[in-house]
Amino acid sequence: LDNGVARTPPMGWNSWNTFGCNINETLIRGMADAMVSSGMRDAGYQYVVVDDCWMNPNRDASGNLQGDPARFPSGMRALGDYLHSRGLKFGIYQAPLDRTCAQYFGSYPGATGAQGHEAQDARQFAAWGVDFLKYDWCSPSGSINDQVTTFAKMRDALAATGRPIVYSINPNSIHSKTGPQRNWGDVANMWRTTEDITNAWDTGQTNGYPMGVKNIVDVTVPLAGYARPGGFNDPDMMEVGRSGMTDTEQRSHFALWAVMASPLIAGNDLRSMSTATQTILKNPRLIAINQDTLGLQATQVSYDGTRRVLAKRLANGDVAVALFNVGGSTTTISTTAAAIGKSGSSFTLQDAWTGATTTSTGSISASVPAHGTAVYRVSGGTSTPPAGTTFVSAASGRC
Ligand code: DGJ
Repeated sequence: LDNGVARTPPMGWNSWNTFGCNINETLIRGMADAMVSSGMRDAGYQYVVVDDCWMNPNRDASGNLQGDPARFPSGMRALGDYLHSRGLKFGIYQAPLDRTCAQYFGSYPGATGAQGHEAQDARQFAAWGVDFLKYDWCSPSGSINDQVTTFAKMRDALAATGRPIVYSINPNSIHSKTGPQRNWGDVANMWRTTEDITNAWDTGQTNGYPMGVKNIVDVTVPLAGYARPGGFNDPDMMEVGRSGMTDTEQRSHFALWAVMASPLIAGNDLRSMSTATQTILKNPRLIAINQDTLGLQATQVSYDGTRRVLAKRLANGDVAVALFNVGGSTTTISTTAAAIGKSGSSFTLQDAWTGATTTSTGSISASVPAHGTAVYRVSGGTSTPPAGTTFVSAASGRC
């Protein structure tokens, strides 16, 4: 979506993965403070997104949304001011139908979805200083055409406020069940590609709830042609720093989100991060690859069911290569400079994890542990874009 924001994948934190409905202003402020003190903000993380369950279950007499008075007694505007005063940006959650997802499932009272209030809610968000809206279709009913009309209504309502607001949608509750993911680049800045992530490597399904990291990668890799500045595939908030995955799996998770030009939205408790978690989330080389201004998502170079090679073209002519071991034991994964669209006789390979560099005449190869991902930034030679690295026009997006 060409609305001036999200020219690179948005980076931030979201309350849902760790806290679900148990949120309040003290928690969110604490997270903002931790984002600053941990160095996450300086590493590039910006948006603090308050997910579902922030609302007063009743609109006011004029039909305006309000923060829940017990959880957000200072009000949403004050929360936005707090975040802005710390150099952060304010993200909030709403749903397009008559109720939010938690309201739909009965875990939160009320029916305060945006349906029929789109312009009013957009104006309210702008007045509170909101910089990011997560808009979550939570119903198995409706057609793709209903979704396009409904999501576009809020896109236009946000634009009418005049405030730059990242528009993040989740169309997935019906999409995953009805066919290939549509290219939502005409409607939103980022769109979920699957049902909810969980803190597991593999839940054994590519179309259902919940999804493991490996499963989400399977679904999102083929959508590479949709990614561009202003519009990115969203494989969901990260599970790095939570239980359920090994350190190797968490590193893979982050590396794969980085090369897939995915929004990097942390979902862990930032107030209690281990050194290992911080080392992953703040890796400057992977963040630079993710935030590259070309806005391309890595495309698949090869995959034999175990060894998966992905390549992401970068603005300065370098190419980032991910060697992902899907299998259960250590294996050597190899590709070549030619296969990733580089010609020449000498290349520099920088290991994105360690920063160490080596030179190569064309071979790109590493021994990778089970579920691990090695990433190299390859420079030197000349670049010719390999097939599949061009954008797919949103207008031709399939439903
Ligand atoms: C479903 C979304 O996929 C989650 O990320 C979260 O926003 C919940 N809804 C909130 O109810």
